[in-house]
Amino acid sequence: MSSSLQAPIPKRLEGKVAVITGGASGIGAATARLFVHHGAKVIIADVQDELSHSVCQELGSDENALFIHCDVSKDEDVRNAVDSAVSKYGKLDIMFNNAGITGELKPSVLDIDDKEFQKVLNINVVGSFIGAKHAARVMIPQGKGCILFMASIAAVTTAGPWYAYKASKHAVVGLTQNLCAELGRFGIRVNCISPHGVATPMMQSMLGMDASSVEKWINESANLKGVSLNAEDVAEAVLYLASEESKYVSGHNLVIDGGVSSINPFLAIAAARAS
Ligand SMILES: NC(=O)c1ccc[n+]([C@@H]2O[C@H](COP(=O)([O-])OP(=O)(O)OC[C@H]3O[C@@H](n4cnc5c(N)ncnc54)[C@H](O)[C@@H]3O)[C@@H](O)[C@H]2O)c1
Repeated sequence: MSSSLQAPIPKRLEGKVAVITGGASGIGAATARLFVHHGAKVIIADVQDELSHSVCQELGSDENALFIHCDVSKDEDVRNAVDSAVSKYGKLDIMFNNAGITGELKPSVLDIDDKEFQKVLNINVVGSFIGAKHAARVMIPQGKGCILFMASIAAVTTAGPWYAYKASKHAVVGLTQNLCAELGRFGIRVNCISPHGVATPMMQSMLGMDASSVEKWINESANLKGVSLNAEDVAEAVLYLASEESKYVSGHNLVIDGGVSSINPFLAIAAARAS
């Protein structure tokens, strides 16, 4: 075997410090695990105390991971999470604004309550904005950093009356572009990711199904067959955007959807009829 094949796999985030909002569950927890595996220290900023503590314990507690109770829609909570990264681990390299909710799904625009709409925007958009603002506060003096947002396939294609969720994820793509333009001169990269459906607790509770039924439901609507998208796959994309391998990537929305958003099903039907 050649020496290059025997070399250990490099840790892609060695010495980096990350805040992950919504890090107790689903994609956030998978990202926290992968980041620590690659040498990062992580702050899990979430509203689920017990679950967050158990993820931190699994990751080696204070040494590698610290839980800070944080409602992303509250400025003081997010400030505390960011400042805790600096006081505990010395700096902040990566801010992953991942926390999000779907809100209630209703059959028509006529059924959607304004307050429910605002609640979704408050967490998904205002929460992400506050996260980026506090990250920029400490990253600008550092002269470098990486801010990541969690958008969704809902930001690039549509189906069903998911008004608040869709509006919120479009807004997140807008935040990404605007911040990329302002923060580039400080060496700060800003990107977002837009995954297709993943059978996380969020999707399970939204659909009222167990994980395997959700996965089956998602796979039926997928373009790319023979594989399922899971939280670990999304975490790999986040790792790429957080690591030096993407050092010149900024303002990008990385869509992870097996190609589904590139397809217009109505044209496919028309093409099938014509051929
Ligand atoms: N699962 C999917 O199919 C999918 C697809 C595209 C995008 N996303 C997005 O991925 C992100 C993570 O979702 P997930 O699927 O892992 O769901 P999840 O429910 O497993 O995780 C979401 C986490 O966010 C936390 N959270 C919710 N409100 C919060 C708040 N106000 N402050 C702090 N934390 C809060 C929850 O406690 C939870 O730990 C969301 O932004 C979601 O919109 C999910």
